[in-house]
Amino acid sequence: MANISLKVGQVSMATNILDKFMEKVEEKTEIKADRKLKVAIIGTGWIAEAHVKSYLKCPDVEIVGAAELIPGKAEAFFAGLGFDTAKLRFYPSHKELLDTEDLDAVSVCTYNATHAECTVYALEKGVNVLLEKPMCVTLDEAVAICRAEKKSGKILSIGFQPRFDANMKMIKKIVQSGELGDVYYIQTGGGRRRGIPTPFGTSFIEKETAGLGALGDIGCYSLDVVMNAIGHPKPLTVTGYKSDFFGKSTKYSNKPEYVDIFGVDDFAAAFVRLEGGIILDFRIAWAMHMDTPGDSLIFGKEGGLRIPSTDCWNGSAGGPMTVYHDVAGEQVETVIPMLGNDGNDLFDMKIRSFLDAILTGGPSPVPASQIIYNQAILDGISRSAELGREVEIVIPEI
Ligand SMILES: NC(=O)c1ccc[n+]([C@@H]2O[C@H](COP(=O)([O-])OP(=O)(O)OC[C@H]3O[C@@H](n4cnc5c(N)ncnc54)[C@H](O)[C@@H]3O)[C@@H](O)[C@H]2O)c1
Repeated sequence: MANISLKVGQVSMATNILDKFMEKVEEKTEIKADRKLKVAIIGTGWIAEAHVKSYLKCPDVEIVGAAELIPGKAEAFFAGLGFDTAKLRFYPSHKELLDTEDLDAVSVCTYNATHAECTVYALEKGVNVLLEKPMCVTLDEAVAICRAEKKSGKILSIGFQPRFDANMKMIKKIVQSGELGDVYYIQTGGGRRRGIPTPFGTSFIEKETAGLGALGDIGCYSLDVVMNAIGHPKPLTVTGYKSDFFGKSTKYSNKPEYVDIFGVDDFAAAFVRLEGGIILDFRIAWAMHMDTPGDSLIFGKEGGLRIPSTDCWNGSAGGPMTVYHDVAGEQVETVIPMLGNDGNDLFDMKIRSFLDAILTGGPSPVPASQIIYNQAILDGISRSAELGREVEIVIPEI
């Protein structure tokens, strides 16, 4: 077990008080490969490679083909990964793929703006879906996705791989253990000093393809860390702010040639009221004149949790977390050591958990019924920022 110390003023003593929080190594289920699941990829850009590499580690999966809007891109993508492309089938969009193939599952790896149409169409065709994050762009789209999922009875999992990280699970475990008491205030978010993503082209920064900027790209992760920890309370109202000073600046943009087409936020902040009287104070940056907008903090009536920020907020902890609480009338800090993942890759776990849910009939590892609240907050921040005032968040019946 990792070494844990508990500090009371100047006094430091070894303790195993955190034993109850330590994660048990999950038992691996045997994978039967007698019937292979037929899987296809929709959108063969940057993140599709991670999906394919993880599927290749699953003996019960056969990748049958892909859909891609850009002619020749999918063929080149699979050839680059060492596939015999003559054995795969390629389609010019998600519709042709889903109309033609008899599939068990698809990974929706398209840019944000087409997440909803691809996912809804796949579910309507009775195909299980692993959908990349963020869930989509608007709350209306998220509602359509959830309704299609409900009607289909299929598995839909949203691609939040940090959910599988032992430190993220620990945050949830600490909150759910009651050690912090009732949570009433949360500060979350993070970001990078400079880091507007343009890995392969401009799909992250154009309004038509991305829909949301830092807010959707990395904001969804920091919201999920805390929303998942506190059990997904319903968001009620939000006051949001968005700006684009760096993306629009030839002086500070990392790609000055893209300044004219930059059409999303590079910074966002919000004050969100959640059911149960919980306040969520949020800020996220792709670029800023600052190293970090601060650690993530969870305030409870009996204790507080500090989660050190990372340069690039991607749903991970930047260092050991600390619980602030009182023991026998003394103000005490308990340091939670960083945990490893036993050599498991988070992306592999995200793919495997999705496949296992298909094989066992569920539940979905990262359900849309949870992530719709994440999307409702992103949507609320966007709407509020555009209107310049607080807005209500109303989620219709699914
Ligand atoms: N989980 C993670 O760690 C992670 C990391 C990076 C990106 N992502 C997410 O993955 C998604 C894709 O990101 P990316 O960097 O791979 O984008 P990308 O622009 O490199 O690739 C997306 C591809 O989808 C194709 N496409 C769009 N609509 C389509 C449709 N209807 N049918 C077929 N193809 C279609 C585009 O032509 C493009 O080639 C984004 O939503 C992003 O947020 C997740």
